[in-house]
Amino acid sequence: MDSLIKRSSPASYSEIPDAIAISDVNLTLGSGAARVHILKDISLRIAAAEAIGLIGPSGSGKSTLLMVMAGLERPDSGEVVVNGTSFNALDEDGLARFRGRHVGIVFQSFHLIPTMTALENVAVPLELAGVADASQRAASELEAVGLGARLHHYPTQLSGGEQQRVALARAFAPDPAILVADEPTGNLDEATGQQIVDLLFAKHAERGMTLVLVTHDTALAQRCDRVVRLRSGRIDGAGQ
Ligand SMILES: Nc1ncnc2c1ncn2[C@@H]1O[C@H](COP(=O)(O)OP(=O)(O)O)[C@@H](O)[C@H]1O
Ligand SMILES: [Mg+2]
Repeated sequence: MDSLIKRSSPASYSEIPDAIAISDVNLTLGSGAARVHILKDISLRIAAAEAIGLIGPSGSGKSTLLMVMAGLERPDSGEVVVNGTSFNALDEDGLARFRGRHVGIVFQSFHLIPTMTALENVAVPLELAGVADASQRAASELEAVGLGARLHHYPTQLSGGEQQRVALARAFAPDPAILVADEPTGNLDEATGQQIVDLLFAKHAERGMTLVLVTHDTALAQRCDRVVRLRSGRIDGAGQ
């Protein structure tokens, strides 16, 4: 019997436990005339170590869906389960703690803290998460993205590509199982954007990190294992 159940390596993604399972999610934001039903009956399963390219027209709900996956936005209905933990079971503090440990987030506009150096931007979230050697770990993550000589620079003293590399080091530092990136190359020129994407895919390959990458670039999306398209807040076609 055992031999029927145990398998040394899964034959397909459907046999690997989900890293992210989204079921029947709806989300409406805004009030009065500005109320928008943004996410409509979204169900999506993403396997551990899978890379998903999330594409769709501007305004189709891509950023909102990423925020829901990261636990930064709570849906009105439905369920989000990440690494076996249902967000419905967590309060705001619990969600923040879960995110700090398991989910890395990279934004188009970097979102670095301007009054902190590169090193502090990476180290402070680690310190808050109770990591003992936060500073050393931050320095080695920054070295790994090629910023060993920029540890004490402030964001305004760094180029866009360098700022995004700091943001990558910050996202990678807690060794998250899941990384969501919202148009991480959107503010960068092509060559610089390519370096950022290469770092993302290298980490995905090296650590088996599940990757959800929002992009306008269909060639970039094609580098992922699977492309999911959103249209007017719904998953389009056979994306699930
Ligand atoms: N806080 C908000 N209140 C009201 N509407 C919002 C809010 N955030 C986003 N929207 C609307 O939701 C839709 C989807 O937005 P978004 O997820 O940012 O799309 P995308 O990332 O695909 O461009 C857009 O029409 C946007 O205007
Ligand atoms: Mg967006």
